[in-house]
Amino acid sequence: MSAFILIVGVAIGVYFFVYNTFVRGARCRSKVKLHGKTVIITGSNTGIGKTTAVDLAKRGARVILACRDQRRAEAALRDITAVGKITQKDLCCLVIIRPCGELNLLCCPDRQESGSSEVVYMQLDLGSLESVRSFAENFLKSERRLDLLINNAGIFKQGRTKDGLGMMLGVNHIGHFLLTNLLLDRLKQCRPSRVINVSSAAHNFGSIDFDVLSAHKALGVGTSHLDVFRVYSDSKLCNVLFTHELAKRLEGTNVTCYSLHPGAINSELSRYTNPFLKVLFMPITLLFFKDTKTGAQTTLHCALQEHLEPLSGRYFSNCAVKKVSAKARDDAAARKLWEVSERLCGLS
Ligand SMILES: NC(=O)c1ccc[n+]([C@@H]2O[C@H](COP(=O)([O-])OP(=O)(O)OC[C@H]3O[C@@H](n4cnc5c(N)ncnc54)[C@H](OP(=O)(O)O)[C@@H]3O)[C@@H](O)[C@H]2O)c1
Repeated sequence: MSAFILIVGVAIGVYFFVYNTFVRGARCRSKVKLHGKTVIITGSNTGIGKTTAVDLAKRGARVILACRDQRRAEAALRDITAVGKITQKDLCCLVIIRPCGELNLLCCPDRQESGSSEVVYMQLDLGSLESVRSFAENFLKSERRLDLLINNAGIFKQGRTKDGLGMMLGVNHIGHFLLTNLLLDRLKQCRPSRVINVSSAAHNFGSIDFDVLSAHKALGVGTSHLDVFRVYSDSKLCNVLFTHELAKRLEGTNVTCYSLHPGAINSELSRYTNPFLKVLFMPITLLFFKDTKTGAQTTLHCALQEHLEPLSGRYFSNCAVKKVSAKARDDAAARKLWEVSERLCGLS
């Protein structure tokens, strides 16, 4: 019996050591406050996007939840604004901006003289170029500032977007590419400002076959588990190359950009995968994946850390800059991807 207790004790000890050393990772140490600043976070109704929204709202930012599903976004809006540390003093009003541009006030506690912040939902479906354009139009009409654009939304699923693009190409890359371009002038007006692209370490497994891309408007067409992972990895490589090229184009503007790997996180990203596989991997996910709070730390680091400007275009992991492989800093591929992306979203 005592041997059994000893083994269990050692196992628990080893688990906590492994978790704290290798899984939990670094924390964003910035104490920066964001009163008067406006932030857009795509896909912020759940996962690390939602946790990022909570953190930035607590710092006083006006946070735009750019989400596709109204019901899920409104539920998130309620959660985010109900977080204990966002006091009524910090909270000014909750506004819903419908796709048509109509404004709906959810509630409006007394406006206090200091520390007020706002959390706003604006409908955005990155799988529809029309939705991206109308989001940008509504945003530019109704908001004066844009200090941080956090391209966080992501999907792990094959299929086609409303415009006939491969789903992961369309949502993970092209939608964000178009959104960023449509908002660049506002970011420049509000400089110093930042664009943060949430990529993944999976980009290391990615490649971009430009022939497949132009023939199928997709990064790949297979639907096996391996194909889905491969295409997801390709789309995450697009995020890194997009950031690389964007930084060059923004040189001298005081708008900077960063891509990042948030870690392996226990989120809803795998919601479309085979339920059997999900159950099979559940113990690993529960024990060795980050929760969304620790998963949001590198995004927060890239958004908030001071003196990061000289590192524009670089890739971060665990709250630190990380060298990427040659294919993820390939100038020619990044330029070509930019040109193809412009064509696919109608910017050229
Ligand atoms: N989880 C991980 O282990 C991991 C690892 C590396 C990188 N990442 C990256 O981290 C980012 C956040 O992922 P997560 O783990 O927090 O996943 P998540 O919990 O599934 O959140 C993804 C978010 O993206 C939104 N989204 C999906 N399709 C969209 C569309 N067409 N238009 C607008 N929003 C859309 C989702 O909205 P709905 O709820 O309406 O679907 C959701 O809010 C992603 O870019 C992902 O690739 C995650």
